[in-house]
Amino acid sequence: MTSSPADFPLASAVASTLDVLDSSPSTNDELVARAGRGPAEVPHFSVVVTDTQTAGRGRLGRQWTAPPGASLAISVLVRPGPSFPMDSLGWLPLAAGLAMSRAVHNALGGLATARVKWPNDVLVDGSKISGVLSELVDAETGAVVIGAGVNLTISDEDLPVPTATSLAVEGVSEPDRDRILADYLTELRSLTDALFSSRGDAAASGLQKAVTDSCSTVGARVKVELPGNLVLTGIARGIDSTGRIVVQADGSPDLTPVSAGDVTHLRTEPRA
Ligand code: BTN
Repeated sequence: MTSSPADFPLASAVASTLDVLDSSPSTNDELVARAGRGPAEVPHFSVVVTDTQTAGRGRLGRQWTAPPGASLAISVLVRPGPSFPMDSLGWLPLAAGLAMSRAVHNALGGLATARVKWPNDVLVDGSKISGVLSELVDAETGAVVIGAGVNLTISDEDLPVPTATSLAVEGVSEPDRDRILADYLTELRSLTDALFSSRGDAAASGLQKAVTDSCSTVGARVKVELPGNLVLTGIARGIDSTGRIVVQADGSPDLTPVSAGDVTHLRTEPRA
């Protein structure tokens, strides 16, 4: 990426530090390595960004690929501090998905609607435009690197999978990278600040309701592929206080909370 923080004035004003790399194997790997130098050198809300990632990693051990120059790979270091409950760390990637859905929504300017698919994919009319991978750096201090990839100018024929989309495919031919990054960082900072102030209570901070309202999975009929080759099919009824999706399996009155799994939307049911 032949640009510098000077090309990102809006985003630079939100990040504690913003490092723009020409290219990187993985911005998450880069920031995880830097985070070990400690908070004085690499403070809360340090950001690394590139438009060319050569070994991007996705959730569940998958790859995350995009043609050079056609997406943004963004990693943000958050340092909630030792008093932040470990149980609430699962809300950070959900906050990132919500923040990105808002940034994408602004960039679309009414052309289409962006929603969150649990846990943190952003879909535009059902196609994936962004994904999030968050990684715990240090269990003692709760430091986490939140990585997000967003497809900007990838053409239809260059999309990595047929279920993906990009801003260009949705009709935004020249997305404003600084604006998108700044919107994402502003939203992420505000959502995570509220969560930290409420000591990880996602209900009190408003995060649980905001994610639930924006999440197209809630109310949908879903298939969830769980670790260990188990499959759960039913209706997603809500998101619980730790960020798990709560599924009512077919033929059962019981609600099953799921913390990790691959969700497929089968069809949407009216919300109760
Ligand atoms: C997914 O949908 O599976 C998550 C994709 C996450 C990709 C981002 S791009 C920035 C950061 N660096 C990585 O290697 N991965 C994340």
